Amino acid sequence: MAYEYILTASEDGIGIITLNRPKILNALNLQLVDELVAELERMDRDPDIRVIILTGNDKAFAAGADINEMAEASAIEIMKRDQFAVWDRMSLISKPIIGAVSGFVLGGGCELMMNCDIVIASETAVIGQPEIKLGVMPGAGGTQRLTRAVGLRKAMEMLLTGEPISAKEALRYGLVNRVVPVEAYFQEARKLAKQIAAQPPLAVQVIKKAVHKADDLPLGEGMDYERNGFYLLLASEDRKEGMQAFLEKRKPRFTGN
Ligand code: CAA
Repeated sequence: MAYEYILTASEDGIGIITLNRPKILNALNLQLVDELVAELERMDRDPDIRVIILTGNDKAFAAGADINEMAEASAIEIMKRDQFAVWDRMSLISKPIIGAVSGFVLGGGCELMMNCDIVIASETAVIGQPEIKLGVMPGAGGTQRLTRAVGLRKAMEMLLTGEPISAKEALRYGLVNRVVPVEAYFQEARKLAKQIAAQPPLAVQVIKKAVHKADDLPLGEGMDYERNGFYLLLASEDRKEGMQAFLEKRKPRFTGN
């Protein structure tokens, strides 16, 4: 499929999506988000892809929603666009998404990062929700996911001041998984993606969903969900292969069945 604002590639079971509006720091216009979600869904259906990397460039993962597009629109127009409905579809992607982020990770860019399951950040990343400085607030999960990720007080400080935090501080608060030099963040994400792509795909997807349920469900219901996932995976071919390979002291060959 031909896209205007994203680049796509795949290698060794890894799908790579690169946000590509470098002149305006990968500002997220409606078309970019549509293209991104269409490609995420395509990769989710592609049996040759097991893990997805979402990245930008060294200077910007994304500096937020495209302010040019928002500045003139009325509240009613924006409400009628229902522009966040397409964002909601991102949370339905069943394969793991690894964010490889660098530079500006602001507003919608931070919300996009928080839609990733694992995040590798470059030392240069600055991460925040500056919407308050524009007289508005986040609309794609910034108040909800940030609070779950860093806790109420830190989220409150970030959202009410609009000031970003450094990659190192984000690491301390558990908002990103690893911080590495700017030359290495993409390679680090690729290394991790390769490691996950070698795991049994069904288990990967069931685990991803179960971990996200921990955000949504009371503990008892989450435990039930986990147990049902565990029973389901016992019925998979990959479970037979994984356990047999262990007993035969060889490497397993997982097929996703
Ligand atoms: N939308 C549209 N254009 C943007 C943009 C955005 N979010 N962010 C940057 N740009 C454009 C700039 O207008 C500029 O374009 P021109 O060269 O044509 O003037 C170009 O990108 C480079 O930006 P700067 O010259 O400003 O670069 P800088 O290094 O001096 O500053 C920055 C970088 C601090 C990120 C600054 O650009 C900035 O503050 N951007 C806006 C960040 C922001 O407020 N994001 C939140 C948007 S609202 C949102 O995301 C709502 C939501 O929840 C979905």
